[in-house]
Amino acid sequence: MSQKKPLAPLSPDAARVIETDRLRLRMFRPEDLNDLAAMLADADVMRYVEDGQPKDRDVAEKALRSIMAHWQRHGFGRWAVEEKTSGEFVGFGGLRSLFGTPEVVYHLAKAQWGKGFATELGRVSLSYGFDVHRFARIVAIAKPENVDSIHVMEKLGMHFEMRTSYYGMDIVQYAITAEEFEASR
Ligand SMILES: CC(C)(COP(=O)(O)OP(=O)(O)OC[C@H]1O[C@@H](n2cnc3c(N)ncnc32)[C@H](O)[C@@H]1OP(=O)(O)O)[C@@H](O)C(=O)NCCC(=O)NCCS
Repeated sequence: MSQKKPLAPLSPDAARVIETDRLRLRMFRPEDLNDLAAMLADADVMRYVEDGQPKDRDVAEKALRSIMAHWQRHGFGRWAVEEKTSGEFVGFGGLRSLFGTPEVVYHLAKAQWGKGFATELGRVSLSYGFDVHRFARIVAIAKPENVDSIHVMEKLGMHFEMRTSYYGMDIVQYAITAEEFEASR
């Protein structure tokens, strides 16, 4: 299924809240902890993430703090994502720094899979990185078995770069340049 549709460039002040056709991306709030903790406690969601184990509430709290600290340190980061009409928590995604290289990430609650939300989120995250931060290139990484995540990368127009290792984990790395993204709008 194609999601291609012209994507207007984002304005520089688009950071705190961004809306797509179906999603609202906004800053995390302390009240999001319950939703975040429930998502990170789901073994299916965590299967291909880090050590593959579900996480407890303390880890979720640290993750929330780390997401906020990343925005402070780098000026870009991961948003809490909700479904626009219902306000329902979808997950999180956006950009983070992978040893200094911007990386697009998406992490959805299981009930939200299979709706095209990850691609919608990934696309606007790339737009934010290229339009607002003027990054030259954005990468994405996944464990090779995480075919759903790799499929999203491909739908975003990213291309395979290499198989490598980060944090001691075997991963595949995909990338897209600003020029490639512009051509795909
Ligand atoms: C990886 C992950 C984000 C992928 O989510 P996803 O829901 O499979 O991906 P998408 O949002 O792109 O949607 C997938 C399917 O939704 C379907 N879909 C339904 N309605 C749609 C719509 N309106 N528009 C587009 N696609 C739609 C499509 O069939 C699409 O699959 P296809 O492209 O093969 O046809 C999700 O599995 C996840 O959060 N996993 C746990 C965390 C994780 O592993 N994150 C990545 C770490 S590297």
